[in-house]
Amino acid sequence: MRLADRVAQLPPYLFAEISRKIAEKRAQGVDVVSFGIGDPDLPTPQHILQALHTAAEKPVNHRYPESEGLPEYRSAVARWYARRFGVELDPDTEVVSLIGSKEGIGHVALCLVDPGDVALIPDPAYPVYAVGTMFAGGEVYPLPLDEEGGWLPDLDAVPERVLERATVLWLNYPNNPTGAVAPLELFERAVAFARRHELVICHDLAYSDVAYEGYRPPSFLEVPGARDVAVEFSSLSKTYNMTGWRIGAAAGNRGVIDALTRVKSNLDSGVPQAIQEMAIAALSGPQGCVGEHNAVYRRRRDRIIETLRSLGLRVQAPKASLYVWARVPEGETSIAFAARLLDATGVVVTPGIGYGQQGEGYVRLSVTTPDDRVDEGLRRLTAWHAATARG
Ligand SMILES: Cc1ncc(COP(=O)(O)O)c(C=O)c1O
Repeated sequence: MRLADRVAQLPPYLFAEISRKIAEKRAQGVDVVSFGIGDPDLPTPQHILQALHTAAEKPVNHRYPESEGLPEYRSAVARWYARRFGVELDPDTEVVSLIGSKEGIGHVALCLVDPGDVALIPDPAYPVYAVGTMFAGGEVYPLPLDEEGGWLPDLDAVPERVLERATVLWLNYPNNPTGAVAPLELFERAVAFARRHELVICHDLAYSDVAYEGYRPPSFLEVPGARDVAVEFSSLSKTYNMTGWRIGAAAGNRGVIDALTRVKSNLDSGVPQAIQEMAIAALSGPQGCVGEHNAVYRRRRDRIIETLRSLGLRVQAPKASLYVWARVPEGETSIAFAARLLDATGVVVTPGIGYGQQGEGYVRLSVTTPDDRVDEGLRRLTAWHAATARG
């Protein structure tokens, strides 16, 4: 048997690697505290679960869904855009349902990238943008982000010879893994850039509502002209603790939404309708849970930052996202630091290099670890620091 080259080219999926390491340590009897994965620990709110119970009883929901999603779900997404961002969308032509935003992020490359085309992808970044590009036969041109530049790309630095072949620019704010947020002005510049170079912008808004201290992340589609050149991926996963249910949406440019719907209808049969009904309840129901979740994350964020700073690590408080992004001690790689931490304390953090070369020198800690485990993890880090300082 010979597997296709694209399988051999796949890097090990970062989180699968982390899960393997955790399992290995647990098998050795270590009580592991993981700050590794951004998967909300709190349950899906009751009123959303109740919608699932009711929807599960309806025989119409026991049959194949349509890949584009129920009209009622697409309308709920459009109403959310109008209420939350002041963006008016046509639910019939400008919105499509996704089996979690990851599915659409992966598949959209099949709509936009031919062999030999280039995708402009920030470094560091959520790994799926590059993998989708590779599956479509395209090449990745990394846009280096750094702390001095606020983890925002310098679009003017992309060489002309690259721009000639570029068909897509990926952006993601609030950002995973850095926690950075973008001013609307970056989105405005990106729209002009996309027009100038005839490329499509894919904006990943997975952390649309995970934000702190009154900050409200904007939608890319708020910028005038955005829908001429852009699609945006949103998700219910992080806002409503729904990672396990797999539902999100793509919205924006009609041509891209139509292409994505056609690709999807040839590959998948959409999101189970009962889950679309949950999502309607989430988007249209009471929103108090969103602030409650963020208050929990904010407390954890502040405690994690305080401890990391007491260890001498440089870290800025993120305005949004589920992540604390910390500079590792000078002279140590992110993998070496994460491994040293795991061996000495049983605490798991994600090495920044897993998100690209520019992630080297940083580690990411997720605030989705339950409170008692945050306490335990931070206690161990403090004790370890005190012991190393003494030793
Ligand atoms: C930046 C970013 N985009 C998209 C996703 C995918 O989320 P989902 O497929 O659950 O909607 C994630 C998940 O961690 C993410 O961090």
